[in-house]
Amino acid sequence: MDLLEKLRTVEKRRARFAGAAALPGETVIDRVVGPCEVIIGGRRTLMFGSNNYLGLTLHPDVVEAAQRAAGEYGTGTTGSRTANGTLALHEELEREFADWFGKRHALIFSTGYQANLSLVGALCGAGDVILIDADSHASIYDATRQTASQVVAFRHNSAESLRRKLQRLPTGQRNRLVVVEGLYSIRGDVAPLRDIVAVCREHGAYLLVDEAHSLGTFGSRGLGCAEEQGVLSGVDFVVGTFSKSLAGIGGVCVSDHPELRALHFLARAYVFTASGSPSNIAGVRAAVKVIRRHPELRDRLWANVRMLRNGLREIGYTIGEHESPIVPILTGEEARTIALWQALLRAGLYVNLIVPPGCPKDDCVLRASCSAAHTPEQVQQALDIFATAESQLGQVPLRRVPEAVGEGDLRLDAKILP
Ligand SMILES: Cc1ncc(COP(=O)(O)O)c(C=O)c1O
Repeated sequence: MDLLEKLRTVEKRRARFAGAAALPGETVIDRVVGPCEVIIGGRRTLMFGSNNYLGLTLHPDVVEAAQRAAGEYGTGTTGSRTANGTLALHEELEREFADWFGKRHALIFSTGYQANLSLVGALCGAGDVILIDADSHASIYDATRQTASQVVAFRHNSAESLRRKLQRLPTGQRNRLVVVEGLYSIRGDVAPLRDIVAVCREHGAYLLVDEAHSLGTFGSRGLGCAEEQGVLSGVDFVVGTFSKSLAGIGGVCVSDHPELRALHFLARAYVFTASGSPSNIAGVRAAVKVIRRHPELRDRLWANVRMLRNGLREIGYTIGEHESPIVPILTGEEARTIALWQALLRAGLYVNLIVPPGCPKDDCVLRASCSAAHTPEQVQQALDIFATAESQLGQVPLRRVPEAVGEGDLRLDAKILP
């Protein structure tokens, strides 16, 4: 097969949608009108597909801090943290994270993706075993691929499956790292961290929890699902991203292990890449301060979640069972899902479209996400658009997911090894 042939398949797939107003995966936002409103194709569009869970991307404190830092430090660092790219701003943000989490150490990375690559790459090598949830994010799978470690996937959100996999490992293999997410990004389901922490303790395994979507949204201080479930002290490494609730770009790991600091020299995805730009880092620090000062942001977020979920159910949509800022609408068949997505967009509502290769052919999902910045009026407008699109498309509610299919079987191909 020609080297370029696999790339041509993308064009072939694209040709199927020739003439459609909106192409899956190619939506361009022309302008941002507000934290939850954008202009797409000349039309004012409600944004229910971002990860701006706390609506801080346009918060005055965040914007002002970013602008000030660009003026004071310039637009970029032009180097890696280990070379010329560590500013006082980076270290201040690390202290802010350690203080917020009540953990001894924090290290920040250029993206959340690189945080996972750095942690797993620096910790694990030949002779070690990495155990990951089967529905893990691509960054976790990619992180394992750079190591010479044995990689074992366990059934999604099953502490029992994890226990069995750990029991089956030969006793000689000493080092075990378990990697899970707090809140899973497509189906919005939460990991049973209490059970997972207990299993890790039983088997002497280290635990890394990626709280990308739960940082800022779960827990009484917004620290994520481990805080919410009262097991933060049982987690060795908490990873977070700045690209969702924190309204910027970057990643962080907090830990009580002083060895974390060694990543400054050892982690390739940290050493060989430029550090976060001054405006971004200052904006993220301001966002953390806002989150710490305003726990009521989470109350607003969760009120919107309940309103959207109840409304969608009343219209007749089948949605995921877990209550979280991610509201998956289980639409089933691909062509119908794309038609529904396009109808919503034409009517001025953007949600995320999850179709193959992002999921199995008949398990497509429209992923709506809530923000604290959505007004109740905007949630109602979105529900009205959902209702109209449903009636226009005919016999929606769409295909229900069969009872017998467990979460672990609804694998998302974009997130798992081919
Ligand atoms: C679970 C998880 N980990 C890591 C990442 C990567 O984060 P970033 O956008 O900061 O690279 C994401 C992004 O979607 C994610 O969902």
